[in-house]
Amino acid sequence: MTAVLGPGALPRRVGVLVSGRGSNLQALLDACVGDFPARVVSVVSNIPDVYALERARQAGVPTRVLSHRGKPRDAYDLELRGQLLADGVEIVCLAGFMRVLGPGFLQGWPVLNVHPALLPAFPGMHGAKQAVDAGVTQAGATVHLVDAGVDTGPILAQGSVPVLPDDTEDTLAARILPIEHLLYVQALRQVASGRVALDGRRAVVTLRDGERRWVTGG
Ligand code: GRF
Repeated sequence: MTAVLGPGALPRRVGVLVSGRGSNLQALLDACVGDFPARVVSVVSNIPDVYALERARQAGVPTRVLSHRGKPRDAYDLELRGQLLADGVEIVCLAGFMRVLGPGFLQGWPVLNVHPALLPAFPGMHGAKQAVDAGVTQAGATVHLVDAGVDTGPILAQGSVPVLPDDTEDTLAARILPIEHLLYVQALRQVASGRVALDGRRAVVTLRDGERRWVTGG
């Protein structure tokens, strides 16, 4: 069993990467108060002027725009990593960050992502649209650890919602979004409090009473 986060003092320092409106960032900012085991200490966007940056400013969290334009992928990954390390970040949360990050970025810290589908179904762009088009009856959200694939890493939390007959991508995505916010806060709490380990690809959470629970299967 491998712990996903090394030892360290609470609250753990979180960096959030964004590219857009930032509703998941807002959920994390709202949660990271009081005895929650994490604080958002850095928000980085690859796109200037997105609303997520405004949300961070309103919460008093330092922001930075680091454009990927004209940079080789590896160089961007290292620049981004260096920036977050300089901010003392220990856990990275992707919150609508529209870039794939390579191994050079991912090594050595937990990187979490939220995806609007029940992975491993419908990875990549437009998870809700893929669900509508496929005619499934249940859709949902997944929070997972990021690995070198696209939406392929170990699953930390999932929640489902029904797909209704008249759903469009927008109506289904709107039903999924509140689940994303809840699950992201739950997963970050578990990771930050050092209660998540990996058994192969399967995440195991140690509950407060010391009991272990396999997130997937088991
Ligand atoms: C969310 O649907 C998330 O699952 C996906 O991108 C969207 C970001 O929304 N990865 P927001 O910027 O957090 O509001």
